[in-house]
Amino acid sequence: MTNKSKLRLCNEALLLLSALILFSGIHLEVTSCHSISWICIHIIIGIVFFAFVLWHIRLHFPWHKLHTRLFHTSNRALKCLLVFALLTILSSFLATVVRLFHDYHSPIGALHGKFGFIFLFFVAAHAIKRHRYYYRTLFC
Ligand code: HEM
Ligand code: HEM
Repeated sequence: MTNKSKLRLCNEALLLLSALILFSGIHLEVTSCHSISWICIHIIIGIVFFAFVLWHIRLHFPWHKLHTRLFHTSNRALKCLLVFALLTILSSFLATVVRLFHDYHSPIGALHGKFGFIFLFFVAAHAIKRHRYYYRTLFC
């Protein structure tokens, strides 16, 4: 498999996973995280989503160039994407720990939801800016 075809597979999967995590996030927000089954489904989708995000980043540059190419980028949109990705992951970990040991909808869970939606807003901007890529690969 070439790098180009791996990127294509990864980017298409990310599009689908973004829609799934958005749907499960809205569902949890509307139902105030009442259903444990939905929280488990959400956690599984979230982990797969972030695994693909890591693969997406890895396909663009090797890990040792991550520091210069990503963390020191002058691209403000990419910086926002990265900051909210990290806030979402960190808060999701804390929300999951609270759920596991205390089983209640915590303030950190609520904050995680806000970070998640802001992150998805930047993901949408990131993907829409590159809509020509999807147009070429999905429809051509
Ligand atoms: C923290 C999350 C993410 C980071 C840091 C990130 C970073 C990048 C970088 C560095 C590029 C290449 C340079 C550029 O075109 O500006 C890129 C391209 C791209 N990204 Fe992302 N990305 C992220 C998440 C996503 C997600 C969730 C999607 C899809 C929903 C996506 C879709 C694309 C597309 C379509 C391209 C252009 C084609 C390509 O070069 O792969 N990205 N991204
Ligand atoms: C882009 C990714 C994600 C988005 C957009 C997102 C969004 C949300 C939203 C909107 C809620 C509902 C919050 C509320 O009702 O106040 C929520 C809850 C939750 N999420 Fe995520 N999430 C993401 C990733 C993850 C990941 C990766 C995990 C775990 C590994 C996770 C674990 C949880 C847990 C445990 C809850 C329930 C919190 C509680 O009941 O206190 N999420 N998420």
